[in-house]
Amino acid sequence: MEKREKLYEGKAKIIYATDEPDKVIAYYKDSATAFDAVKKATIEGKGVLNNKIASFFFKLLNEKGIPTHFIKQISDREMLIYKVEIIPVEVVVRNLAAGSIVKRLGIPEKTEFNPPLVEFYLKNDELHDPIICKEHILAMKLATEEEIEKMRELALKVNEILREFMKKQGIILVDFKLEFGRKDGEIVLADEISPDTCRFWDEKTGESLDKDRFRFDLGDLIEGYTKILEKIEKKET
Ligand code: TMP
Ligand code: ASP
Repeated sequence: MEKREKLYEGKAKIIYATDEPDKVIAYYKDSATAFDAVKKATIEGKGVLNNKIASFFFKLLNEKGIPTHFIKQISDREMLIYKVEIIPVEVVVRNLAAGSIVKRLGIPEKTEFNPPLVEFYLKNDELHDPIICKEHILAMKLATEEEIEKMRELALKVNEILREFMKKQGIILVDFKLEFGRKDGEIVLADEISPDTCRFWDEKTGESLDKDRFRFDLGDLIEGYTKILEKIEKKET
């Protein structure tokens, strides 16, 4: 496998071509952003932790039958993935109320959503990732009705798998964001799953072990992410 030219650089990752047209390399950077990159920092070691944590979660999900873009972790900061056409919709699953839904709808923090809530957001930083509904996705031709249902179904399955797995490690999966892509006409889970894109609360102490540490200055980010990695690595399923 040969690493070739840079194809795309996002806020947290760089995508490189390889000598195989259907495979690319995702390189995890140390940059942290919040509130549409209004708050920015470089946090040494974040990329390594996120690459390891995301690789672990993708492997677990692949083993449980969820189609993902993940092939394998190839270095501390890099994973080999299938090239997909990203659907510009962020799919958020919520088990407990936290973050934007508390502010937007006045729902008290920690309110339980049973069944879990699935929301769609337009992936567009300039518009500040606005919340959208199925009808908007159809009207904007971002995905078909079938694809939307597939994303919803996969997001709920991912929630079941990760929620149960994290519970065994003493961690509450509060909410998370997923992105999906098209590969050979099929919907597959893409982007990343890490403490940058999930809320994880310590079951005993209630402590945030995710990017809220950076967003709201709750404590050292590396310490929180390291706790997540240590807990999941200790307990291979
Ligand atoms: P929210 O409460 O800010 O809407 O976030 C819900 C979940 O989605 C939370 O786990 C953090 C994650 N998220 C992202 O991964 N990227 C984003 O741009 C935003 C706003 C949230
Ligand atoms: N990821 C978004 C940003 O970089 C927002 C967030 O995660 O809070 O601005």
